[in-house]
Amino acid sequence: MRSHLCGEVNEALDGQSVSLCGWVDRRRDLGGLIFIGLRDHAGILQVVVEPDSEAFAGAEALRNEYCVRIRGTVRLRPESQWNEAMATGKIELVASEVELLNASAPIPLLMTDEDGEEVRLRYRYLDLRRPRMQRNMRIRSQLNQSIHRHLDGQGFSEFETPILTKATPEGARDYLVPSRIHAGQFFALPQSPQLFKQLLMMAGMDRYYQIARCFRDEDLRADRQPEFTQLDMEMSFVDEAGVQDAAEDLVRTVFRDVLGVELASPIPRISWHRAMEEFGSDKPDLRYPMRLHSVDEHLGHVDFRVFSGPANDDGQRVAALRVPGGAVFSRKQIDEYTKFVGRYGARGLAWIKVNDAGAGLEGLQSPIAKFLDEKAWDGIAELTRVQTGDLLFFGAGDWLLTSTFMGHLLVRTGADLGLADDDWALLWVTDFPMFEWDEENGRYIAMHHPFTAPQADTLEELRANPAAAVSRGYDMVLNGAEIGGGSIRIHKPEMQQTVFELLGIGEDDAQAKFGFLLEALKYGCPPHGGIAFGLDRIAALMAGEASIRDVIAFPKTTTAQCPLTSAPSVIDEPQLEELHISVRNGEE
Ligand code: AMO
Ligand code: AMP
Repeated sequence: MRSHLCGEVNEALDGQSVSLCGWVDRRRDLGGLIFIGLRDHAGILQVVVEPDSEAFAGAEALRNEYCVRIRGTVRLRPESQWNEAMATGKIELVASEVELLNASAPIPLLMTDEDGEEVRLRYRYLDLRRPRMQRNMRIRSQLNQSIHRHLDGQGFSEFETPILTKATPEGARDYLVPSRIHAGQFFALPQSPQLFKQLLMMAGMDRYYQIARCFRDEDLRADRQPEFTQLDMEMSFVDEAGVQDAAEDLVRTVFRDVLGVELASPIPRISWHRAMEEFGSDKPDLRYPMRLHSVDEHLGHVDFRVFSGPANDDGQRVAALRVPGGAVFSRKQIDEYTKFVGRYGARGLAWIKVNDAGAGLEGLQSPIAKFLDEKAWDGIAELTRVQTGDLLFFGAGDWLLTSTFMGHLLVRTGADLGLADDDWALLWVTDFPMFEWDEENGRYIAMHHPFTAPQADTLEELRANPAAAVSRGYDMVLNGAEIGGGSIRIHKPEMQQTVFELLGIGEDDAQAKFGFLLEALKYGCPPHGGIAFGLDRIAALMAGEASIRDVIAFPKTTTAQCPLTSAPSVIDEPQLEELHISVRNGEE
């Protein structure tokens, strides 16, 4: 039907006749001349229909999003009419024939960035016609192709794993599927292929990958969907370096293939503890030039309980954040930042504006300066290298809570002042704690997942002090987003049993949930490890999109619904009966 794609027509085709298919992006009548922006997935080309042309009547009837075929002759535009904003801005098509392939009802959305989320998802097939979304989806496709090419060349085999399966604990709620044949029993959709990929290593498959759909019923955000895609990998006979090298190679290749970007080498490595100390985050965004500074040693002696208490307590800290140029913040802005950190549990936020860095305490403007002496201020000023025009924020209290709210503040103030450089900041975060304490339920939970190996070599060592145990897990972080996470796995049944125990999973419970794994570990399981990348997140970063919804063809809303198909939806009584399910209506 067509000889070329709209976006591919170029100056070299001047004078040639072509046949193009696409949609009317825009139609303008200009005193007898009709201009049509003709759009396909490759781009937009300006079509001119002259008044004496046979195509004129057909062109007059066109409206936005009509699907058409247009024949005509390519013509160079005079230089005065070049449109530098368009890839095809130096040429146009002089139409000789306009064929209507299909009319369109009036379009229910603007087809611009102004459209709201709900209407965009309701008419996703129209929203996806927009050049921005076409580009995003093609970046995603190129990403997938690059992954396949690269991993096929590295000795990885691609296997599929079950979707109807048993719960895998990745820390979210499960999506369940009722069994018709087995009344009262349910499949769980996989939160990840974790256990199956480990079983594939036990099966001698050596190196596995899969572009796998995962399902997690959790609170949704811009970077979380209930159904998302992982690049899932697992390797046998490797240590951390083996997996990390393979992962780095892959990430370098896909960035080169898709964006033509060379990522810096080597990639920085930072322990979880240092990441929390210095960036207040387990996914530091190294594009910001700011750090958190521990100022405890300078504040232990001051007559201000908010600071001296935490400064003298091992489980607490006082963290300072120097905001370069932050003295411009108004009282109102500072109040807003105080409210902002309050959302992360901060009880307050102390601040000092440095109006004259050379004047010691005299040069400061702050409600708390009166509590400081020269010794304290000199120490803080030297450590933070504060300069005239800067602002210091201070957070005090529980080590993890304070680090976390100050980390959020770092990114927020850095973003507000435009302090990020526009490079790609990739890093590994390593040495995670094995366990975190779950206040609510009074027990440990696995920081990564229960199959992650501890750095401790023996069961005794691990049992002796679980709170201090460090895992063999690692996360890959890009521009402040966790794009991948993995670990070296436990490959001995006794160690797996011990970790279950420490997690408060009793022997019977462990048998019921993971008996098959414990059994499989008995038969010569190889040492193995792996990683899974969040493909939606990588695609969003590549496309420069803030939300992964913009790189998923048919995503869910933040309330986990699909406005296009109206899923989830009510099920008929007979079907429910067949599934042995009765629905409780009302407020119970
Ligand atoms: P993890 O739970 O860290 O590890 O997930 C791996 C990566 O998947 C992405 N991700 C998500 N992306 C979009 N929406 C979500 N709801 C979502 N949840 C996670 C993140 C994350 O880094 N089985 C282990 C991997 C392993 O140990 O090999 C796992 O699933 O980018
Ligand atoms: P208060 O003693 O609560 O009136 O607080 C005195 C100053 O200390 C105010 O500027 C508070 O914002 C600040 N402040 C209170 N709690 C904290 C905290 N946990 N971290 C940092 N600053 C705090």
